[in-house]
Amino acid sequence: MPASEYAVVVTAIANLGEFEALARARLSPAAYAYYAGGSWNEQTMRDNEAAFARRRLLPRVLVDVSAVDPSTTMLGQRVALPIGFAPAALQGLAHRDAEVVPARVAARAGLVYCLSTFANRSIEDVAAVGPGPRWFQLYVQADRGRSEETVRRAAAAGYGALVLTVDSAGAGYRERELRDPILDPGSLPNVGGHATEHGPIGALLDGSLRWDDLAWLRGLSNLPLVVKGILDPLDAARAVEHGAAAIVVSNHGGRQLDRAPASLDALEGVVDAVAGRAEVYLDGGVRRGTDVVTALALGARAVFIGRPYLYALAAGGQAGVARCVEILESELRAAMILLGAPTLAALTRDRVA
Ligand SMILES: Cc1cc2nc3c(=O)[nH]c(=O)nc-3n(C[C@H](O)[C@H](O)[C@H](O)COP(=O)(O)O)c2cc1C
Repeated sequence: MPASEYAVVVTAIANLGEFEALARARLSPAAYAYYAGGSWNEQTMRDNEAAFARRRLLPRVLVDVSAVDPSTTMLGQRVALPIGFAPAALQGLAHRDAEVVPARVAARAGLVYCLSTFANRSIEDVAAVGPGPRWFQLYVQADRGRSEETVRRAAAAGYGALVLTVDSAGAGYRERELRDPILDPGSLPNVGGHATEHGPIGALLDGSLRWDDLAWLRGLSNLPLVVKGILDPLDAARAVEHGAAAIVVSNHGGRQLDRAPASLDALEGVVDAVAGRAEVYLDGGVRRGTDVVTALALGARAVFIGRPYLYALAAGGQAGVARCVEILESELRAAMILLGAPTLAALTRDRVA
């Protein structure tokens, strides 16, 4: 569809939730099942959003909020908003140019784009969209040599951090995918070799990875290590002890272990365990600017969104993803003004009940 038609579609969108129905109409049933699904009963997936809905925000009045600044730093790099694009596989299902499109929007907006190992576009093609805060998410493969090569490519292409996903020793039991499997995931240029041309991508996950392997990983490059998929405070402490510069509190959008806690409910325990030794981010269920301020008030430095930008990409291409960012920024600024928080530092725990 031409960009102009996309633009007509996306101007009518007022919140992130509205992208889903449009995306569903454009995606193949199997692609929609892959994007939308969670594991088992999808309890955790629902809980991620419900956990935000349960929290109340306490406004503080008569604070000068005539100038609101939603910018921050992530791993020392300035970002325009405390919101990044979570790594998500197979963006070619949503758009011909796949990961290149949201990576370009993120770069222009000054937001972190995290490229998945299982992307349909290469590390180098995505880097070619131009400078921007850009990270690479790694699934360690059973063939460690391939992972070593991937990490070196990401470092050479200027990615600013290595995000190791640790909640995926195997794939979650996802019924929607079982009923409606993706028959052709497209090419996976970041896994190396030709191992991926047949069989599900879940078969590429390596269940033998252990804490001790983090030293090996850190030795492959100078990139700071972000450990993604932590819910247990003890694991958070272990990650810090093994050199993590940051942690992403995440249950993979409810796609891995079902009935794992909602990310927001796990956040405070992790923040306390980390005790300022690393940055803590959160993903899972972030749909509104009010969700962003809630997570930040409870100790997250930033959040990531997953499905919303995938749906925006499918629904409206580049204009859709740009609209997704614009909505989140408007909502975040409005929430900061009404909470009486002119900066993100003013989002303290006592703002959330
Ligand atoms: C379709 C899809 C594919 C994903 N692929 C990956 C991936 O390749 N690597 C990864 O670390 N996380 C992956 N995730 C998890 C996201 O990074 C993130 O944790 C999750 O989407 C956040 O929840 P949300 O979708 O509710 O925002 C994927 C999520 C979705 C929905």
